[in-house]
Amino acid sequence: MPGLFDPIRIGSMEIKNRFVRSSTHEAMADENGRPGPALKKCYEKLARGEVGLIITGMAFVSQEGRSSVSGMLGIHHDGLIPQYRELVSHVHDHGAKIAMQITHAGRQTREETTGMKPVAPSAVYDRALLSKPREMTEEDIDRALGAYAQACGRVRESGFDAVQIQLGHGYLPNQFQSPFLNRRRDRWGGSLENRMRFIKELYGRCRRVVGDDYPILAKVSAEDSLRKGLKPDEGILMARKMGKMGFDSLEVSCGVYADGFSMIRGELPMDVFLEWAVYKNNMNRAMRFLMRRWGNRMFGVLPFTELFNLENTKAVKQAVDIPIMLVGGLRNPEDMERIIRNGDADLISLCRPLIAEPFFPKRIRENRRHPSKCISCNLCLTYLEWHPLRCYGGRRLNGHGSKRGTSTSSDFRCLSQAQDS
Ligand SMILES: Cc1cc2nc3c(=O)[nH]c(=O)nc-3n(C[C@H](O)[C@H](O)[C@H](O)COP(=O)(O)O)c2cc1C
Ligand code: SF4
Repeated sequence: MPGLFDPIRIGSMEIKNRFVRSSTHEAMADENGRPGPALKKCYEKLARGEVGLIITGMAFVSQEGRSSVSGMLGIHHDGLIPQYRELVSHVHDHGAKIAMQITHAGRQTREETTGMKPVAPSAVYDRALLSKPREMTEEDIDRALGAYAQACGRVRESGFDAVQIQLGHGYLPNQFQSPFLNRRRDRWGGSLENRMRFIKELYGRCRRVVGDDYPILAKVSAEDSLRKGLKPDEGILMARKMGKMGFDSLEVSCGVYADGFSMIRGELPMDVFLEWAVYKNNMNRAMRFLMRRWGNRMFGVLPFTELFNLENTKAVKQAVDIPIMLVGGLRNPEDMERIIRNGDADLISLCRPLIAEPFFPKRIRENRRHPSKCISCNLCLTYLEWHPLRCYGGRRLNGHGSKRGTSTSSDFRCLSQAQDS
């Protein structure tokens, strides 16, 4: 029976233990998507904290597919490769493996960010971003697929140990999967097979570029909580099909932006959230009042529970024979140990626990096995509009709406420094 500190192989990549840093947007890139010096420190800390595999924050494959968050990484042109090479080699020097997560936002972005109207399989209003995308043409689809394939080539060229394609969380491939967001009647919509065509094409094109020996991982949403969205019966079936398609590993998650960010769970700090440009500029006073009071209910935010993707992950794991990552609400080392020993998942993927404590795996190995210090306040997420990633431990900043770039130097610390040991 394997344990948390046993090595594992994903295709040609050997990872020294079962701990993965789940992709986490760090807001540490410049306006051209170029990684800044803070990111190097951030990854160094995670590597020193004995994370086996670090997955970068999402990187956009093309300007059109850029998400509307500040400080997002880019992998949309060759000029970025030298800087990523340096970053990767720094991580390797500290003993960890590193994969890059790539994404195309589809509808989950804004014209103000990309300079063009957001595109999607169908023109369905997005209640999280308060906008309606344009339906994609055949040329649009072909262009997006091409951008993913080129980005994969750059990831390999930069020396990353693997690429992770973001297929879930409401980004473009997930929009094609969803019966609610994809209303097409052509070969890209309708039946389950048609709604999976985009992902099948995507995998084939990326594989052709990187070759057979390079690990292609994927993060998937097995369900979302939109009323007519992706339900677990279809979502699990689709994930199983992906597991057999040739992906080297799957990370099983859930949710889209518009279902109240169910991939994260736990209340959103509405006072901070309402300062985001999209809400600040597009909501009248009455709406802001309602949102401040009942925003979490209006958005359909789900309460935080531990291990919220466990059942879906087990269902996928039973049907495929590639390594499977469990993510979402893992806080207790005893649960992590049991899950690996039982074979419910092969890897433990952590986001917020590693923001709160980048040295979490190391302290578990040293037998200091108390649960994660993360209290799921979600301030790390909501402050990203203004400040690079760090832990706030439930404490709000004074004047959180400060303009990006005007924060104090302590705001630019990578992750929490309080728990370095
Ligand atoms: C601040 C923050 C940034 C995130 N950025 C990403 C991202 O770039 N890509 C991604 O796939 N998921 C992202 N997520 C989701 C996490 O990877 C993870 O799926 C989710 O937080 C549940 O795991 P946890 O309970 O360990 O935090 C982010 C979550 C948070 C809180
Ligand atoms: S700010 Fe810190 S305590 Fe709050 S959710 Fe993020 S990591 Fe957890």
